[in-house]
Amino acid sequence: MRVIESAEQMEVFSKALRAEGKTIGFVPTMGALHDGHRSLVQAATDQNDHVVVSVFVNPTQFNDSKDLEKYPRTFEADRELLANAGVDVMFYPTVKEIYPNDLVPEYDLDGLDEAMEGPNRPGHFNGVVQVVTRLFDLVLPHRSYFGEKDFQQLAIIRHMTKKLGYDVGIIGCPTVREKDGLAMSSRNVRLDESAREKAPIIFQVLNELKHGIPETGLNKAISNAKEKLAKSGIELEYLEVVDSISLQPAKDDSVGLQGCVAAWLGGVRLIDNLRVK
Ligand code: PAF
Repeated sequence: MRVIESAEQMEVFSKALRAEGKTIGFVPTMGALHDGHRSLVQAATDQNDHVVVSVFVNPTQFNDSKDLEKYPRTFEADRELLANAGVDVMFYPTVKEIYPNDLVPEYDLDGLDEAMEGPNRPGHFNGVVQVVTRLFDLVLPHRSYFGEKDFQQLAIIRHMTKKLGYDVGIIGCPTVREKDGLAMSSRNVRLDESAREKAPIIFQVLNELKHGIPETGLNKAISNAKEKLAKSGIELEYLEVVDSISLQPAKDDSVGLQGCVAAWLGGVRLIDNLRVK
């Protein structure tokens, strides 16, 4: 596996593959890789001739500098995992390679950033779109792979890829969970023992919400879910049920509904979601 640090070399490499008629699968990550990332890489290797994985902790998507500072960085372990997973290139650029000047574009996300994560993390999704489009311009992928755990991110990337005219297939991959249901996340390593013990309740509550909706109706199911989380000592940031495509609050005629949660546990912010209809 090659490790490429330069933006220019990345582009040259991808152009050469494209000139040979090869397909490129791309998995953008911020490192601290786990089995959730491994499943994205597996899907990419199954569906493409070559696979590129970027490891880049993107400063423009952090609205809290402490969160950026504390984000786990595990280069050696990441490199080993990717080499063992059959990845062709680990793209490991510096901030200067990704943002060579201060002119970072601002995007109109057509309101998809207004719900859920949006109000709590101003500028976050703009940062995600900034880095993903820059990476697409360098890696030139045919397909790119994202986890469904970041449900709102996936919806925004799908929408913006189409809107900005990128010919890249956006593939959403199912959330990978620990045995007790906790969604895998790079942040989980920061949970202390007591927080780690409590964390699976988020997925339990999402499942109860799913079964509660047909039994008690949407509003009651939501208030039961919030009550249960509050009692467990978890600090809830939001629990919302939204239309799976528009991300607008659930309406009775919505075809698909997604239950989405963000919560704090022992100083660590966790998110999760589940299709509830
Ligand atoms: O989901 C992530 O890890 C990041 O938001 C992404 C897509 C790699 C962009 O930095």
